[in-house]
Amino acid sequence: MNKSEVLELLKSVTYPGFSRDIVSFGMVDDIIIEGNTVTVRLKIATTQEDKKTAIVNDVKSTLEAAGVFKHIRVELLPDTSTAQASRLDVKSTSAIQGNVKHVIAIASGKGGVGKSTVAANIAAVLKERNYRTGLLDLDIYGPSLPIILGLNERPKITAEKKLLPLERYGMKVMSFGFISGNETPVIWRGPMVARMTEQFFADVEWGDLDYLVLDLPPGTGDVQLTLTQKIQISGAIIVTTPQDIALADVRKGADMFRKVNAPVLGVVENMSGFQVEGEILAPEGRLPYPLSIRFEKNDPVPVDETGRFIVHFELFKRGGGARESERLGVPLLGEIPISQEIVESTDAGMPIVLKNPESSISAVYRGIVNTIEENL
Ligand SMILES: Nc1ncnc2c1ncn2[C@@H]1O[C@H](COP(=O)(O)OP(=O)(O)O)[C@@H](O)[C@H]1O
Ligand SMILES: [Mg+2]
Repeated sequence: MNKSEVLELLKSVTYPGFSRDIVSFGMVDDIIIEGNTVTVRLKIATTQEDKKTAIVNDVKSTLEAAGVFKHIRVELLPDTSTAQASRLDVKSTSAIQGNVKHVIAIASGKGGVGKSTVAANIAAVLKERNYRTGLLDLDIYGPSLPIILGLNERPKITAEKKLLPLERYGMKVMSFGFISGNETPVIWRGPMVARMTEQFFADVEWGDLDYLVLDLPPGTGDVQLTLTQKIQISGAIIVTTPQDIALADVRKGADMFRKVNAPVLGVVENMSGFQVEGEILAPEGRLPYPLSIRFEKNDPVPVDETGRFIVHFELFKRGGGARESERLGVPLLGEIPISQEIVESTDAGMPIVLKNPESSISAVYRGIVNTIEENL
């Protein structure tokens, strides 16, 4: 076994509390192989001794399991890079509070694409399937969850100064908006936003959950990367619109999750075309049947015996989402049109899957949750 093979093995050793490995953190300073003795030199800049011990033990047992070396030595070098230390020590305090089985992260390249709407509906379907479900909106600039769920209460604080999530539609929910109020846009600067987001993330007491749906702040920059590093994400979903899917959006999102070893479940294309539902009113209360109507340039649309029809207009070139996601190797989980029903359900403060379970859009959401269940 040579040096690079040892290094490869050490990639399975993660930093305690992170899904990221010690190699990618730059903690492996040197590997020396002499006969059947291997010496690994580590540079771990943390003030927490238990973390160091855990890593040393993990390195030893990983190399022992390989069964190649007779003597395994791990040396800790003093590390003066305080930047790494403070970064890691901050991160290590920012784990999820509670016993959460699966974390589903919902991301998007920018705001306003419907990320929170998608997150709320996925959470609502999970709850409907009797999973204990939590939903966390981490958008500090434009928290949308209070509006989407019609919630405007202040969360309670425990004796340990942790925030207790609110309950809505059987889910546990938390959003910046519950604390800051919905109206005031926050105008903090970058580093402060990062710190606030991390702090907020760590301050919520979730209790026991099967699923935590994480509505990440929009973007795929440092704030998002640090957040995703901190937790073991079971599956990531990227929300995009047809205009953005061809841009770097999906790729950037997918790259971010791959960097932290989080499996990307796929892409949801939101605002994919425009869907109108309607009803033909016959004066005598009877319709000639079978019947179809045709809108200009669109294929004929069938009308059912009660006179109802759904017509779908493409606003952008069709199939872009499917093509692009195939090219990137990220499955297309579903396409959700711009729809009056979603506007109405937002106004009503109730996810469409609950307000209108019969809708074809609700069926798309249930399909997305099927994929989540199959993959986890
Ligand atoms: N498919 C859709 N059809 C119509 N309106 C939508 C759709 N998806 C989202 N919206 C609306 O767009 C706005 C932004 O959605 P939101 O989920 O808050 O976006 P984000 O969390 O990405 O900023 C909301 O008012 C929401 O009701
Ligand atoms: Mg949002």
